[in-house]
Amino acid sequence: MLKLPGLIDPHVHVREPGATHKEDWDTVTQAALAGGITAILAMPNTKPPIFDEATLNLALDAAKAKARCDYGQYIGAGPDNSDIAASLAPKAAGLKMYLDSTFGELRLDDMTLWTPHFEKFPKSAPMVMHSESRTMAAAILFSAIYDHPVHIAHVSLKEEILLIKAAKEKGIKVTCEVCPHHLFMTMPSPPSPLPEGEGRRGEGRTEVRPRLATQEDVDSLWTNLDVIDCFATDHAPHTLEEKDGENPPPGFPGLETILPLLITAVSEKRLSVDDIVQKMYINPRRIFQIPEQTETWVEVDENETYEIKASEQFTRCGWTPFEGWKVKGKVRKVFLRGNIVYEDGKILANAGYGRNIRHI
Ligand code: NCD
Ligand code: ZN
Repeated sequence: MLKLPGLIDPHVHVREPGATHKEDWDTVTQAALAGGITAILAMPNTKPPIFDEATLNLALDAAKAKARCDYGQYIGAGPDNSDIAASLAPKAAGLKMYLDSTFGELRLDDMTLWTPHFEKFPKSAPMVMHSESRTMAAAILFSAIYDHPVHIAHVSLKEEILLIKAAKEKGIKVTCEVCPHHLFMTMPSPPSPLPEGEGRRGEGRTEVRPRLATQEDVDSLWTNLDVIDCFATDHAPHTLEEKDGENPPPGFPGLETILPLLITAVSEKRLSVDDIVQKMYINPRRIFQIPEQTETWVEVDENETYEIKASEQFTRCGWTPFEGWKVKGKVRKVFLRGNIVYEDGKILANAGYGRNIRHI
């Protein structure tokens, strides 16, 4: 039996408030515990988005009532909320800046809108960027100019990981995360030439932001593992009906599959258990200033081989892009603050047991 610390996922879309048919604070924290994750940081692209005190409280009140693992809630950077966001920094997981388009309304197109956030958000508080490709280069330049640490979300491209490596070598305060789907999957082959509606079913299931990339990109992430600070899921649940519908929203669920995928990579000698501990516990704790969870650990049967099945998952979205994948590493027990909170497919923590990482 492998014993790991309680893992931390700094990138989770909870969907409450506003889209609880996809997920809510109860189901998402059950999925986290089943995946060996005892603290999640929730993204602000909800409905309404989290961008001021009232909306932050909306999310935190729901979390307080329902969460079964520990949590934090990001505030979103908007065009005119830099003062309020800075003042809420102590209550929030950090500031999330959407610099490229994705699911939800939060987006800062014009670089003049980035400046007030870089000037005012406390230097010690985490600032997370959704910034792809050249936008990421711009975000790193802002970090250097304003001497403000930044964390780059879901790095997926060779050009990105190489630039982050170079920026770190120059002493720029940049950290980054990579998601399992960008480590284990490549872009689908071009859309089939079949008539509309025929043969297209299922294509929405490969939609995710950033998009799945080439084998060369995937290889570059693996060869630059030491540049990767965190593994994060970007758990972004949408229902199967939505994924197979007309305008499939981008996003994959991931809380219940990250650990077995990584343990499988360990069994193939592509990764070490220490890499998992560094990137899912030590580094996220430091970068996001997460207090120690005492008497908290995860017991994993690293030799159990099984097939990933959506029907066994706790997420409400009802599917996984890894359906049928054969993996190694089954979470058996999870302890949080001295109590057993998960055992062999059963959630044992009550709704409301989870605590806000900013108030432990
Ligand atoms: C995320 C979502 O659905 O909220 N989707 C995704 O493809 N990752 C948004 C995001 O993180 O960009
Ligand atoms: Zn995301």
